Amino acid sequence: MAAVVEPVRLDDAFMQDPHGMAEVFRQEGPARPVVMPRGLRGWVITGYHEARALLADPRLSKNSERISELFQTQVDPGDNAESRTFASALTAHMLNSDPPEHTRLRKLVNKAFTPKSVDRLRPRMEQITDALLDEMAAHDEVDLLESFAFPLPITVICELLGVPEAQRAQFRDWSNTLVSADPSAPIEKAAGELVGYLRDLIERKRAEPGQDLLSDLVHISEDGDRLAEHELVPMAFLLLVAGHETTVNLIGNGVLALLRNPGQLAALRADPSLLPGAVEEFLRLDGPVNLATLRFTAEPVRVGDVEIGEGEFVLISLLAANRDGERFDHPSSLDVTRQAGGHLAFGHGIHYCVGAPLARIEAEIAIGRLLARFDGLALAAEPSRLRWRASTLMHGLETLPVRLG
Ligand code: HEM
Repeated sequence: MAAVVEPVRLDDAFMQDPHGMAEVFRQEGPARPVVMPRGLRGWVITGYHEARALLADPRLSKNSERISELFQTQVDPGDNAESRTFASALTAHMLNSDPPEHTRLRKLVNKAFTPKSVDRLRPRMEQITDALLDEMAAHDEVDLLESFAFPLPITVICELLGVPEAQRAQFRDWSNTLVSADPSAPIEKAAGELVGYLRDLIERKRAEPGQDLLSDLVHISEDGDRLAEHELVPMAFLLLVAGHETTVNLIGNGVLALLRNPGQLAALRADPSLLPGAVEEFLRLDGPVNLATLRFTAEPVRVGDVEIGEGEFVLISLLAANRDGERFDHPSSLDVTRQAGGHLAFGHGIHYCVGAPLARIEAEIAIGRLLARFDGLALAAEPSRLRWRASTLMHGLETLPVRLG
C-alpha cells in the first residue's frame, strides 16, 4: 500500500522548473496528487510507460460536459452564467470529447493535416520565414519569440484557416489569456470576445467562401448534419489555438536548447540533414506541452501501487515522461543524433496531435533557415534569468533575447 502523499500546489515554482519538480514527483511514485492553480485537485503522472498507457486508456474520459460539471463542483469560478456559456462554447471540441463524437469530428479535419497536404504549404512557409528573417537582420539583438517564433505559426495557421490579417494581433492576446494559469487573467472576457469574433468570421465564410479550411468546414455543415453549427466555433477555436500556442514553444525551446549546447549546435550546422531528427529531440527534451489536457477517471484506475478513484482528474506530464531514464538514456542531455522517436510530446492514442506534420515542417524550416542566416546566433541573456510563461498546459518562455552576430 502506498504512503499517503499530501497534494502539492502547481504554482509558479512548478512552471519555472517543471523538470526539477517532475524528478521530485517521480521519486514519490508514478501518480502524484496535486492542486492546480485555480484550486482543482488531480493527479500528475510522471512515468513514460504509465503516461503512454493512460493516454490511450478509454477509462480516462475527456467528455467536455462532465469535465465542466466536475470543474464547477470543485472550483467556484466566480463568473456569471453568460461567461460560462462562452467558455463552454469554446471547450466543446474534439480534444474534449470521447468516441463516437471524437471520431466524427476528427475525420473532418484529418485530411487537411496529412504530411502530403501540409507539404504543399512548404513554399509559403519558407517565404514567411525568410521575410521575418529579413526584418530581423536590421537589428543586432531581438526577442526571438516576438520577432520570429510567434509570427510564423500564427501566420501559417491563420492563412490555412482563412483568418484575415487585421485581427491576428488581437487573436494572439485572447489566446494568451485563455491558456494562462494566472487566476487574475481576464479569461471570461477574452472567451466572450473570441466567441463573438469567431461567430462573425464563420458568418462571413458562409456569405463569401474562400479557399480555406474554415470555409470548407462551414460548407460541410451546410451539406448535411456532419458538422453542426454549434460545433463550428469550438473547432475553429481549437485549430487556431492549438496551431500556434505550441509551435511557438517548439521553435523557442529548441533554439534555447541549441544555444545552451554549443557542441550540438556545431554538429547540426555541420550536417543539416540531422535537422528532422533534431526537431524530434527538441520535442523530447523540452516539449511545448507540459501537462496534457484534463482527463477524468470514468472508473477507478490503478497506476503502480496508487489507486485513483472514479471521477478524479488526471494530468499526464509529457515533459516528465519524455525525460524518464527508463525509456531514454541520459534523458536530460540534448543529443541531435538520438533516435528520439516514441516521445510523447504530441500525445498518444486517439487524441494524438492532428497538427504534428505541420508543426514538424514549420520547426524544420524555421530553425534550419534561422541557423543558415545567422552564423553568430547567441543568447543575449543568462539562461538562469529567462522566465517561463505562467501555464500548466504550455511550456514556453516569456522572452528569448538573442544576438544575431
Ligand atoms: C492535440 C501537442 C501543434 C492541432 C495535441 C495533443 C498534444 C499536442 C500533446 C494531445 C493533447 C492531449 O491528449 O491531452 C502539440 C505540439 C505542437 C502541436 C507539441 C507543436 C509542436 C499543433 C498544430 C495544430 C495542432 C500546428 C494545427 C492545427 C491539434 C488538435 C489536437 C491536438 C486539433 C486535438 C486532436 C484530437 O483531439 O484528436 N497536440 N500540437 N497542434 N493538436 Fe497539437
